[in-house]
Amino acid sequence: MQGNLLYAQSGGVTAVINASACAVIETARKHKVRVLAARNGIIGALREELIDTSKESASAIAALRHTPGGAFGSCRFKLKSIEQNRAQYERLIDVFRAHDIRWFLYNGGNDSADTANKISQIGKALGHDVTVVGVPKTVDNDLAVTDCCPGFGSVAKYTAVSVLEASLDVASMAESSTKVFVMEVMGRHAGWIAAAAGLAGKSADEAPHIILFPEIPFDEAGFLARVKATVERVGWCTVVVSEGVRNKEGRFLSEVGTRDAFGHAQLGGVAPLLADLVKRNLGYKYHWALPDYLQRSARHIASKTDVEHAYAVGKAGVEYALAGKNAVMPVIVRTGDAPYRWKIEAAPLGKVANHEKTLPKSFIRRDGYGITEAARRYLEPLIRGEEAPPSGKDGLPKYVRLKNVAVKKKLPAYAIDG
Ligand code: F6P
Repeated sequence: MQGNLLYAQSGGVTAVINASACAVIETARKHKVRVLAARNGIIGALREELIDTSKESASAIAALRHTPGGAFGSCRFKLKSIEQNRAQYERLIDVFRAHDIRWFLYNGGNDSADTANKISQIGKALGHDVTVVGVPKTVDNDLAVTDCCPGFGSVAKYTAVSVLEASLDVASMAESSTKVFVMEVMGRHAGWIAAAAGLAGKSADEAPHIILFPEIPFDEAGFLARVKATVERVGWCTVVVSEGVRNKEGRFLSEVGTRDAFGHAQLGGVAPLLADLVKRNLGYKYHWALPDYLQRSARHIASKTDVEHAYAVGKAGVEYALAGKNAVMPVIVRTGDAPYRWKIEAAPLGKVANHEKTLPKSFIRRDGYGITEAARRYLEPLIRGEEAPPSGKDGLPKYVRLKNVAVKKKLPAYAIDG
């Protein structure tokens, strides 16, 4: 086929976004299409910082399937509307034209779907036809239309496993030492990751005893009463708190004070805050954990289902693009819970862009502190199976670092003005 395919990663990376990259490059190679990758997402496309993936061996590309992080670099960068900054779109199309980019695949979350959607509308108008496809990813699991998001299954597994393991530790220490363990998880506005922690416990008194969701306003007195009752009944208490928990006035408990290019507040630090609240009011000794980037990079404990999803959307993305399906995203459609079955379908990018899917009411227990059977049915298949990375003689996983050979620039330098 004539022309090159441009692939770019965007937003917070995941343990499996490179599995999508692997699928994109392997599938394009099968069709004899060269893949260029943008360095640091759309920023690299604007700066004409492109990487020639044809310089990488088949084994290096295959190893992307089990390597976390974003192999080409990612970005938090929002394109303005065409009316506000037409020059930015013209520059992109100039870069596409200069490097004969006929297909553009943007691998990201809902903000990135918006960016991809905007670009999909402009190519023809600016005289260079390009087919644009969004490839889904986000640990937050908050994309509309798709049943789940690649990246989520693995963070969900890491979270459930960590809660299970740390709770065995707390239980051992509780008689004479630690009585409360608080773990904070990601998921800005949606409680999907917090809900996944619930998979660790199957019966009433198993950890986690308390889950705090961003969907439920924080009630300090109710929380403290529950911690006390749990410690008195069970002997100890594990709390899982979403970084996105808000007070009754709607303010994040953990806002750090900085915002990214999309206007999102940077969150983090609600676990120590709650632990301190417990200590001051109830006197219990505590430990707290903030896995932060550990949770979204933990490829060693990735879910096999998630790896398979990530690969499938990358493969379908290329197939859709080469078939000329513009402004679509391959999404995961669940066709059965037990046994778990799924397939990939194309959804319009416009339906995914800028929407945020929060946890349905039916997934949160009526008391607001745990998950329901419906949530369990949804979540369980997503953390199933392992596809562990190969291990080296040094005992560490064998992750790949690509050569990332730069494509020679053809255009004048370009300064990004935000
Ligand atoms: O991409 C989603 C996410 O992992 C959120 O859950 C988290 O709040 C955020 O990214 C962190 O973003 P950054 O890495 O840009 O600070």
